Amino acid sequence: MATARKAPRMVAIWAVVVVVVVVAADLFGAAVARSASARHAVGKKQREFDYFALALQWPGTICASTRHCCAINGCCRSEPLQTFTIHGLWPDYDDGTWPACCRHTSFDMDKILPLKPTLEKYWPSLYCSSSSTCFSGKGPFWAHEWEKHGTCSSPVVKDELEYFTTALDLYFKYNVTEMLASGGIHVSNGKQYALTDVIDAIKCAFGASPQIVCKKGSVEELRLCFDKDLKPLDCLTTTATNENVSKKKYCPRYITLPTYDPIVHANSTREIITVESEVYGYLYTS
Ligand SMILES: *[C@@H]1O[C@H](CO)[C@@H](O)[C@H](O)[C@H]1NC(C)=O
Ligand SMILES: *[C@@H]1O[C@H](CO)[C@@H](O)[C@H](O)[C@H]1NC(C)=O
Ligand SMILES: *[C@@H]1O[C@H](CO)[C@@H](O)[C@H](O)[C@H]1NC(C)=O
Repeated sequence: MATARKAPRMVAIWAVVVVVVVVAADLFGAAVARSASARHAVGKKQREFDYFALALQWPGTICASTRHCCAINGCCRSEPLQTFTIHGLWPDYDDGTWPACCRHTSFDMDKILPLKPTLEKYWPSLYCSSSSTCFSGKGPFWAHEWEKHGTCSSPVVKDELEYFTTALDLYFKYNVTEMLASGGIHVSNGKQYALTDVIDAIKCAFGASPQIVCKKGSVEELRLCFDKDLKPLDCLTTTATNENVSKKKYCPRYITLPTYDPIVHANSTREIITVESEVYGYLYTS
């Protein structure tokens, strides 16, 4: 599908002057760190992005903080999630910043209805709260990802359906669990892995360097980067994206990929009351 497509070399011209609403209290961790550490080209036409990051999250790290449950929260399934799930496909600039909320195209679940079971399985929200969206206030996790990032993915990705299929295609094509296993890293709770071993396993199987985000020494996110032909690309190293991030948020030399016990079953209707806001660690590659 999307993987073979070539990006037309044309400059996107948006007729719409985008009114960007940047919601500071973003509920998604990495996005918090991202909004804190870089500037969006807010409120004016944003130039075409340079590369993609496919952001994957490690549920074991995020779900360890879950205190209350609800049906939409992937952390609350009776079977704990034991693989990386998708956070989003993010268009980025080479200087460490990124465009956001580029077109006024509200999320429409009907456009991706056939993908819903796959998205629920591999791209679940790991929170109960609804997410900030660019144009319609609040919505599901997928609405946040499409409106904030998907709308900036042109000309590689044309529309909402293509955004989600492209992300899923990359996720299935580059299976991180398998890539880690091929480097001898079989995830086991409590085990410590040398950060360099994890990076090397990915480099070897994927052909490019990932970005790894930690929270208190546990992997929270792993990002794979792609050029506009959707070919593996080294993710940016620390300088551009990381200069204002405090040191404790870096991944230490030894990291863990924890598992978790679900605390409440999917039936529960209780909502998360508190949202962690500054727990999100940063980065990353050697
Ligand atoms: C880091 O912080 C300084 C001062 O607050 C600011 O001028 C600079 O643009 C920031 N760098 C990044 C990459 O956000
Ligand atoms: C990744 O590979 C593992 C091990 O082969 C498999 O269990 C899992 O379903 C795969 N995940 C995806 C998203 O293809
Ligand atoms: C959900 O609730 C039903 C009825 O109360 C119960 O039979 C079922 O086991 C529950 N499922 C989970 C995952 O807790």
